[in-house]
Amino acid sequence: MVERTLAIIKPDAVKKQVIGDVIQRYEAAGLHPIAMKMMHLSQSTAEGFYAVHRERPFFHELTAFMSSGPSVVLVLEGKNAIQANRDLMGATDPQKAVAGTIRSIHGASIEANAVHGSDSPDTASFEIGYFFPGMDL
Ligand code: RTP
Ligand code: MG
Repeated sequence: MVERTLAIIKPDAVKKQVIGDVIQRYEAAGLHPIAMKMMHLSQSTAEGFYAVHRERPFFHELTAFMSSGPSVVLVLEGKNAIQANRDLMGATDPQKAVAGTIRSIHGASIEANAVHGSDSPDTASFEIGYFFPGMDL
């Protein structure tokens, strides 16, 4: 099934100058960018995006990190895009990510883990609407 998912190239990956490499990996995996923008998230924008984690002990650090520099926010479209992107990203902790995944290659820590990807159809729909309001779904 053709799906859409929300991806973020996080501030650590932008600082490392690997935007092009990450997008190349999306395209090679059949995940086509259909919307994309570079933006420096404010702390409150990051808090709204990760609201599901607001009770977690790492919430403040996570949202501070996500607002520490510019990110690239994309909508990717492709076959089973949500799971396909999660597979391409690898595990949250780069140390545990399978070799060849984006986080195994570019991630430095559980916080500086290079990329975000929606984890379900419901979150994809919320996250796409959060960053691209009015986009025709
Ligand atoms: P993401 O939402 O960024 O794609 O990451 P994910 O689904 O793999 O992981 P999730 O559980 O949604 O956590 C969101 C982000 O919070 C940070 N985190 N820190 N210190 C910790 O134990 C911890 N656990 C999660 C990570 O940066 C993760 O990407
Ligand atoms: Mg998540």
